[in-house]
Amino acid sequence: MDLKRLFVLDVKRSFARGPSSAYTIDDLRVQAARRLPRIIYDFVEGGAEDEVTVRRNRAAFGEIGLEPEYLRDVARRDVSTTILGTEVASPVVLGPTGLQRLAHVDGELAVARAAGAMGSIYVAATASSYTIEQIAAVSGGPLWFQLYLWSSREVLAGLVERARAAGCLALCLTIDVPVLGRRERDLRNGMSVPPRVGLRNALNAVRRPRWLYGIAQGDDLTYVNLRDALGTDGHGLSLMEYMDTRLTNPAATWEELAWLRSLWDGPLVVKGITSVADARRAVEAGSDGIVVSNHGGRQLDGAPATIERLPQIVAAVGDRVEVFLDGGVRRGTDVLKAIAMGARACLVGRPYWYGLAAGGELGVRRCLEIYNAELERALALVGRPTLGDLSPDVVRMPAGWAVE
Ligand SMILES: Cc1cc2nc3c(=O)[nH]c(=O)nc-3n(C[C@H](O)[C@H](O)[C@H](O)COP(=O)(O)O)c2cc1C
Repeated sequence: MDLKRLFVLDVKRSFARGPSSAYTIDDLRVQAARRLPRIIYDFVEGGAEDEVTVRRNRAAFGEIGLEPEYLRDVARRDVSTTILGTEVASPVVLGPTGLQRLAHVDGELAVARAAGAMGSIYVAATASSYTIEQIAAVSGGPLWFQLYLWSSREVLAGLVERARAAGCLALCLTIDVPVLGRRERDLRNGMSVPPRVGLRNALNAVRRPRWLYGIAQGDDLTYVNLRDALGTDGHGLSLMEYMDTRLTNPAATWEELAWLRSLWDGPLVVKGITSVADARRAVEAGSDGIVVSNHGGRQLDGAPATIERLPQIVAAVGDRVEVFLDGGVRRGTDVLKAIAMGARACLVGRPYWYGLAAGGELGVRRCLEIYNAELERALALVGRPTLGDLSPDVVRMPAGWAVE
């Protein structure tokens, strides 16, 4: 028998590694798991307590069916849209996540470059490991800045000013961290800033020389945006203590949002909403957008899956503000479902960390390429060539999700 007629041996394929050989977001996750020490992988992947909400975010997407219609001319597909007036190439936004140098030496700089190259919005976090000025200097695309409600208004006002001067288009205020959720993987691993590795974790890290080399480059790893405000770089504190005492303000109320509104006349987005009541409060306090989010299941374990709350929230406030969603978005079809159910765009967190860990800027680009390609194919298969053609009749969701 002629073997050549059975298969073609592709030698290049046998040695293909890195993000370009990833076909799915989960492929990138597997690559990240190989490259990162356990302590860092757990920090990214983990959630609060029993991680019920982490799993629920994902499972809920699986409960939504799609209704294809054919012969509708889908020859030209388009995944571009506008988000709060900004034209973007994709409805996938790189959401705010702190300390990205933990994944790759270029951290936030790599993510900003990738977002710019792909025409996507990047939300730089207050808790970043490069300053907002450094990030803005390399970002070729639309940049937002995320804030926590810091207990000192002076510090907050200073951060808002820096975001404005750096050219950030919008502020994103995260409200779901009155205290930090209990991330038990981090407690067990001794995850701190910088990581304080015990013997077992140290041996595990030594087996990842590429990561070790990267983390050893550059300045100390810390929350550089806050260095002046803190008066200490916080070394030696566990990550949890650090966040609890420095980045959060348990006394904050909705009045703070009204105050922030008075400081900033650009678009203001409130992130961390899972109830209709909070969505209404955010709109009344003057926000222009809300992110239906449970912090990727990293805060209150038991909080609802975001996608199951989306229909009610869109019904309540969708005519007044743009509604975004994050939590468990891993497929183009997930993005399609969220948009068909009324979201303007989706944010992602862990997925681009996987790409960043797997291959820096190229890995983050690969992450966005995967989403965009999957979304484009899904649009063709449901018979709706553009995002504007999506409507609730494309999805079949469990009874009860739409009712308040
Ligand atoms: C490692 C990591 C760090 C994060 N840091 C922040 C942060 O500093 N500020 C914030 O608003 N959200 C933060 N988040 C939450 C994300 O913005 C987002 O809500 C969440 O990751 C979405 O879920 P997904 O990871 O399933 O996409 C973080 C998430 C991760 C995984």
